[in-house]
Amino acid sequence: MRAHLTVSLIAVLIFTARGSVSAHDPIRSKVTWNGDIARIVNARCIRCHRPDGKGPMSLLTYQDARPYAKAIREEVLARRMPKWHAARGYGQFTNDPSLSPFEIALFVAWVDGGAIRGVDPIAREQTTPKAGPSTTAGGRSVDVGCNSAGVPAGRLLAIRPKLAEKSSAGFTLVFPDGTREILAWIRNYEAKFRETYWLRRPVDMPRGTRLAVDATGACSVELRVDAASTTPRAPRTAR
Ligand code: HEC
Repeated sequence: MRAHLTVSLIAVLIFTARGSVSAHDPIRSKVTWNGDIARIVNARCIRCHRPDGKGPMSLLTYQDARPYAKAIREEVLARRMPKWHAARGYGQFTNDPSLSPFEIALFVAWVDGGAIRGVDPIAREQTTPKAGPSTTAGGRSVDVGCNSAGVPAGRLLAIRPKLAEKSSAGFTLVFPDGTREILAWIRNYEAKFRETYWLRRPVDMPRGTRLAVDATGACSVELRVDAASTTPRAPRTAR
């Protein structure tokens, strides 16, 4: 409820801000597909929502998306879309496609304003759609069982869990000095959407570091590990 109110408020602010700027042109004061939404959809949705993608329908074009406007409003407001199985607040990932509150407010304002197309479709159609947030690469991959717990020394770049369907697991590094760092909490795992989670801040794992996993089902994880960095590890704040 609180989140919903906040989003509505932001939506009102957007309308107000734009309305005052372009008071003589009410159409341009609205959030439109071509003005705001297509760009976000291209970056965050069409990776799955395109013909032959993993999503149930295409959102490539205005015509594709328009019939789903109400559903889109609902899904983004509830943060069910873009689909992403890492729980918010546990680790930060460079390839996290989640929408910002501002972007959610744009979707809401677009749908509430009639889900209109807006001007300049030609300019938009000339841009090549991007397939989603760019992912990093690198490091060697090391498979560890979730019970084995020992991890190779080095710099952890990413984790790629493999869990039992619909199960959940929390991943925490335990350093030799006993301090811990929560890496990720994966909820409602779906094999079809198995993901590599690229850490926003790679973590140095000195020799003797362990991986503690709290899983509700079968579990293994592929780690992407780089050579250890030479800079000393920054002190961790307890969470
Ligand atoms: C990683 C793949 C993926 C991404 C990215 C993704 N979706 Fe989805 N989406 C799905 C799947 C799969 C479903 C079917 C329901 C499910 O499995 O959860 C779905 C369902 C939906 C539905 C419900 C359709 C209906 O019939 O009611 C909407 C609306 C939707 N997505 C919108 C979006 C929007 C908007 C974005 C971007 C902001 C997005 N999705 C990003 C995979 C994805």
